[in-house]
Amino acid sequence: MDLGLKGAKVLVTASTRGIGFAVARRFGLEGARVVVSSRKAEHVREAVERLRREGIEAYGVTADLTVKEDCFRLVDEAARLLGGLDILVYNTGGPPPGGFEEVSLEDWEHAVRLLLLSAVWVTRAALPHLEKSSMPAIVYLTSVAIREPLDRLVLSNTVRLSIAGLVRSLARELGRKGIRVNMVLPGYTKTERLLQIARDRAQKQGKTVEEVLKEMTKDVPLGRPAEPDEIARVVVFIASKAASYVNGAAIPVDGGMLRSIL
Ligand SMILES: NC(=O)c1ccc[n+]([C@@H]2O[C@H](COP(=O)([O-])OP(=O)(O)OC[C@H]3O[C@@H](n4cnc5c(N)ncnc54)[C@H](OP(=O)(O)O)[C@@H]3O)[C@@H](O)[C@H]2O)c1
Repeated sequence: MDLGLKGAKVLVTASTRGIGFAVARRFGLEGARVVVSSRKAEHVREAVERLRREGIEAYGVTADLTVKEDCFRLVDEAARLLGGLDILVYNTGGPPPGGFEEVSLEDWEHAVRLLLLSAVWVTRAALPHLEKSSMPAIVYLTSVAIREPLDRLVLSNTVRLSIAGLVRSLARELGRKGIRVNMVLPGYTKTERLLQIARDRAQKQGKTVEEVLKEMTKDVPLGRPAEPDEIARVVVFIASKAASYVNGAAIPVDGGMLRSIL
């Protein structure tokens, strides 16, 4: 199946490693032109080099998604580098792990900027560009935590839910303009973030990181965490013309981990 992504202009936020990087790479391998970004200039430079080594047309912009001005500058620079924008993939870093009684009030405010306001800012900035595209789409990367809360991730469990409201609202509003809006919910995925969560639980429970990782994936029917590319391939399909009638969907990619029926 031809995904029709050759020459597509794609911005993936928070994409110098992990799931975001895998998404940018997969778009690139499909012939799209991509902009990657994150907070650290060094990470951005390395990510761009890795993509270019695979023959991908890639550019980088350094931006902190918790800073409003950075979000607007990121989108403007991406659109300038690519000569427009067809697809926005919104991804962020994860908030610190912890239970309600551990995370500080500052952590809450930071999580709202990181997981909600950044999505609003990036989307606002991207809309004028997407409206000019012949294949506009937005995919928000969130987490299975928006369907079933995960232990010791109260910030993620709470604040990410607002993205579900945003996606369903935008799917109705922007669908009328031909802009599709969807959401992908990764389950446990082999990245530095997964190790961070496992280390936190290991410390709390007096176990080794390996023991915790084993326990985390015990309840996943497929019995293992995802490779980042297994998330990326779904994101790329949902954003592509091949998924032209998919709008407002929330798609878990979790090896069957979620138990809820709907
Ligand atoms: N891995 C999992 O099992 C899993 C499961 C469900 C959901 N998620 C969520 O999916 C997202 C990506 O996860 P991941 O596992 O790929 O994480 P990761 O490996 O830690 O990568 C995070 C990426 O985001 C960038 N980043 C972090 N904070 C940022 C900020 N404030 N502004 C801009 N860029 C920022 C990082 O680069 P810099 O350090 O250079 O900024 C890096 O490129 C996270 O929100 C995570 O919570 C992960």
